[in-house]
Amino acid sequence: MLRIGFVQTSPIFGDLDGNRERLIEQAGRLDADLVVLPELCQSGYVFTSRAEAVDLAESIPAGPTSQALAELARARDMTLVAGIGERAGERLYNSAAVFTPAGHLLTYRKIHLFGDEKRWFEPGDTAFPVFEVRGARIGLIVCYDWRFPEATRVLALAGADVVAHPANLVLPFCQQVMRARCIENRVFAVTANRVGTDDRPGGRRATFTGRSQVVDPDGQLLLQASTDGVEDGVVTIDPRQARDKTFNDGMNHVLTDRRPEYYRALVEPPAPAGDGV
Ligand code: ACM
Repeated sequence: MLRIGFVQTSPIFGDLDGNRERLIEQAGRLDADLVVLPELCQSGYVFTSRAEAVDLAESIPAGPTSQALAELARARDMTLVAGIGERAGERLYNSAAVFTPAGHLLTYRKIHLFGDEKRWFEPGDTAFPVFEVRGARIGLIVCYDWRFPEATRVLALAGADVVAHPANLVLPFCQQVMRARCIENRVFAVTANRVGTDDRPGGRRATFTGRSQVVDPDGQLLLQASTDGVEDGVVTIDPRQARDKTFNDGMNHVLTDRRPEYYRALVEPPAPAGDGV
């Protein structure tokens, strides 16, 4: 059995020290094996320039958010997944880092960038990762990756039992769609979203939709937070539920029933249509 959960935060844009203190305090109160925190958890989301995004990012794992999360993971004997703006030399990534009791394990750099993120960040250059927590296999996507069913599918094919999903959601769809992703792949998913509004100069503004959630392989909501509260939750799951990919009295299987030979357009341009002669 595995205790998995989320922290739903309300960061103050640019308040690096305050945001870090608040999220460490909140996550530190949880008894869990795996806790997921939102995307860009240290900084807020609505940047007004690349220079600002650079200023509010940090290197991973040397930066202060990473260090504090690594220390918390060690002290509380748990694994933390957190979205962090990552500075890597001249490059900037919208990343999620994994901290286990033994320290920083890996960093995933968001592959699908949303809206203005394309102006601030480089697109991710790391594959969707899968790692282990107490024998369970955890896959990782960040926010807008939800919109690409291929992302969760690739993780399920790689053996993920649980999808960890740091997010800063602004559209109303994702929470529903992740339930479909879980049914399609028979996996669990933990979406950690934020609440509140980033209200920035020049009329740049975004309100975040909360409703952080844990979903099971039948698409059932095990936990869901409110649209506007600073909240958290932990639920105990049996990861073996995600290892049974069968349904319909065992006659069907969500992975082996696939016909990938008919999905080739996903990875290569379709062959020119014949003229029928
Ligand atoms: C998003 O990808 N943060 C909407």
